Amino acid sequence: MGKPDVVALPTPSWFVGCGNMAGAMVEGWRSGGVDLSGAVAIRPSGEPVEGVRTVKSMGEAGEPPKLAVLGFKPQKLDEVAPEFARLLTEETVVVSILAGVEAATLRTRFLRARSIVRAAPNLPVSIRRGVIALYSDDAEDSLRTQLSELAAMLGYAVWTNSEATLAAIGSVAGAGPAYAARFIAALAKAGQRRGLPDSLAATIALETVLGTAWLGAASREPMDGIARRVASPNGTTEAGLAVLDPHLDNLIAATIDAAARRSAELAEEAADRSS
Ligand SMILES: NC(=O)c1ccc[n+]([C@@H]2O[C@H](COP(=O)([O-])OP(=O)(O)OC[C@H]3O[C@@H](n4cnc5c(N)ncnc54)[C@H](OP(=O)(O)O)[C@@H]3O)[C@@H](O)[C@H]2O)c1
Repeated sequence: MGKPDVVALPTPSWFVGCGNMAGAMVEGWRSGGVDLSGAVAIRPSGEPVEGVRTVKSMGEAGEPPKLAVLGFKPQKLDEVAPEFARLLTEETVVVSILAGVEAATLRTRFLRARSIVRAAPNLPVSIRRGVIALYSDDAEDSLRTQLSELAAMLGYAVWTNSEATLAAIGSVAGAGPAYAARFIAALAKAGQRRGLPDSLAATIALETVLGTAWLGAASREPMDGIARRVASPNGTTEAGLAVLDPHLDNLIAATIDAAARRSAELAEEAADRSS
């Protein structure tokens, strides 16, 4: 019997900026057994990234990349783009995780690149339970297949047909862990107010949300059905939902609208600087 195929990042692959989000992708691939021997993380601090060679500048990275994941903040594009544009080649696939920065803007910066791909990942990719949306208007089928395989190792992966859909997924799933974390913390605080010790309140809040999500995923039962099964008519949960329901949908919608507005601002700023 032959050895099972090991999924590998192309050699060389660069992570240009490798903080929270790109670092989470590296961690997901590393823990999933992806071969990262050809990968290098470039970050000014030089703080080591587990599993990959880490350098402080692109000049130290070595051979030009076949794949480059752009993992710096959108506001750093002006600073990073000129040097990266000089170093990439016609073989370089650029995968940008920069929120809001459009493919056309990236193409004007990186004219020579083989392909420009946008990715909208979220933080749980580090434990391979993330959501990662992909978009490209110039990637050929073989590249899409290769990137699908790598993205699927990080969780639920989906190609989108438009950047508007990518942005919509990013606004829900990319930012979602922050909102979910706040909800869990609020549930824990409410438990403390009912007299529970802090750590017990935190644990039961986390386990309750985890268990509910798991139940939904395992049973495929709609969330509304799960809520109805908990809330018996005229009972205690129903009294709670009578307070929550009039506000929650609007609150979450307004939260996501605010983030989407900021994303549009960032996209416009990046496009203006490129024109
Ligand atoms: N956080 C999320 O949940 C999330 C979700 C989706 C998309 N994103 C996108 O991911 C990107 C990074 O966000 P983040 O939260 O990971 O930020 P972060 O933790 O601050 O990471 C930014 C990284 O960029 C590096 N960097 C700064 N200046 C640089 C330069 N001149 N050249 C190369 N690298 C440079 C930093 O280096 P040091 O490590 O040395 O400081 C750091 O590794 C953003 O574009 C954001 O829109 C984030």
